[in-house]
Amino acid sequence: MPAPVLELAALTKEFGSGDSLLRVLHGLDCLVSQGELLGIVGASGSGKTTLLNILGCLDRPTGGSYRLDGRDVAQLDDDELARVRNRSIGFVFQSFQLIPQLTVLENVELPLFYDGAPRKTRRARCEELLESVGMMHRLQSNPTQLSGGECQRVAIARALVNKPALLLADEPTGNLDSKNGAEVMQLFRELHRQGRTIVMVTHNPDIAAELPRVVEMHDGRIVRDGAPTKRAHIGDHANAGAHA
Ligand SMILES: Nc1ncnc2c1ncn2[C@@H]1O[C@H](COP(=O)(O)OP(=O)(O)OP(=O)(O)O)[C@@H](O)[C@H]1O
Ligand SMILES: [Mg+2]
Repeated sequence: MPAPVLELAALTKEFGSGDSLLRVLHGLDCLVSQGELLGIVGASGSGKTTLLNILGCLDRPTGGSYRLDGRDVAQLDDDELARVRNRSIGFVFQSFQLIPQLTVLENVELPLFYDGAPRKTRRARCEELLESVGMMHRLQSNPTQLSGGECQRVAIARALVNKPALLLADEPTGNLDSKNGAEVMQLFRELHRQGRTIVMVTHNPDIAAELPRVVEMHDGRIVRDGAPTKRAHIGDHANAGAHA
């Protein structure tokens, strides 16, 4: 069995204290193996983003444990946590979060600056990634000149530039129309085929239905974890009616 990339055990998260204490995650257990593509679904406020932020080392759990690539994240100090975040995790956001003053190429290169990689290495790595997301022809464009789908493809290339162990995406198709959303999902499936570990939050039931594994959250708890229940198609309803 592939090594677990993520291991959550009785993970809790609380915000505030005293009278204003709010418990948002109530003891989550979850194991994600290398190469999995996993969706997190659940109603608004159920804790999806809170969980994703902890997985991405943007925030710390208040209780329980989180092991990323075998390391207990709770034991890391702030500097170590930042290093894990930069080296092991790629983020894709609903709103792309590209820097409008920089070109496509510069946006993808940016995470490598912090790592001190030489210019030639940076350039080669970025071009390879932009090629793989189909954006080589827009290297010198500005994000403001791109469609939403194109921006998200650039953002995915940027998320991959440090060869992260884990790719996290919070509603990556949330700002896209269905055509661009489908193209971005196609890209995630391709990355999954290449063996990457991907965890994505989605509100879209059609997207969730196509994922190999879905974790459903409700009020800060995992209430379901496994293959998605297949959604009925219009034709299925018609057949059901015919048999009734
Ligand atoms: N920094 C914070 N301080 C206090 N409460 C917070 C904080 N972040 C999130 N919460 C609360 O935690 C709960 C879960 O929020 P979260 O953003 O994780 O939900 P979500 O499932 O991502 O919702 P959505 O689908 O709307 O994005 C909410 O009640 C929210 O108000
Ligand atoms: Mg959210």
